[in-house]
Amino acid sequence: MDIGKRFDSVANRYDTPDKEERSKRFVQVLLEKIPVNKNFKVMDVGAGTGTVDIFLSPYVREIVALDLSEGMLDVFRQKIEKNGIQNIRIYRRDIFSEGFDEKDFDLIITSMTFHHLKEPEKALSQLKEYLKKGGYIAVIDLYKEDGTFHSDNTDVMHFGFDEKDVENWLKYADIKKYHYSIVYSIQKERNGTKKEYPVFLIIAIKK
Ligand SMILES: C[S@@+](CC[C@H](N)C(=O)[O-])C[C@H]1O[C@@H](n2cnc3c(N)ncnc32)[C@H](O)[C@@H]1O
Repeated sequence: MDIGKRFDSVANRYDTPDKEERSKRFVQVLLEKIPVNKNFKVMDVGAGTGTVDIFLSPYVREIVALDLSEGMLDVFRQKIEKNGIQNIRIYRRDIFSEGFDEKDFDLIITSMTFHHLKEPEKALSQLKEYLKKGGYIAVIDLYKEDGTFHSDNTDVMHFGFDEKDVENWLKYADIKKYHYSIVYSIQKERNGTKKEYPVFLIIAIKK
């Protein structure tokens, strides 16, 4: 089963209060760290059900949301309709293999998607081409974990990343570090005890 179909199969149960809380937190930190304004054109890569975009959309001009999974995007479309949101456009697309014909984004975000990509440094380098000069890219993902975060590790290419991994991506993509922090911790029940999975945010700027 390819990754798009895998996410299709979980789309209707993907959204949980925890994911809503963590997405709100991501947006809060993004707004604190980046001078986001109503002129911003934003791309979200691996947008899924729009967990992050639903909270970000009131602060920007427009969000272009890309994902491989039609099922995840269907849930996202329902949320857009229910909330009467006018400034999100959705495309079923793998930008890394198919490309995209719009450029000059002010901000690109990608949340909890990089651990599904074989070569995150190449992905970052490709995404940089869609940014305007001085534009921001924000990657949110799992800090290094022991392989217990997902109950099924099919399509999981990395058990999270540490700060050194992230530094290597930035060097490869030739993009300037702007901010790094741990922004959230996901709690899961594992072997009868609560386990914490920290989540980091890296923001970089196109020189
Ligand atoms: C764990 S979900 C994250 C969804 C959302 N960003 C969030 O934070 O809740 C990962 C998403 O990335 C998408 N995805 C994985 N690889 C992709 C690719 N190469 N291009 C577009 N979407 C991709 C999957 O279909 C899935 O919806």
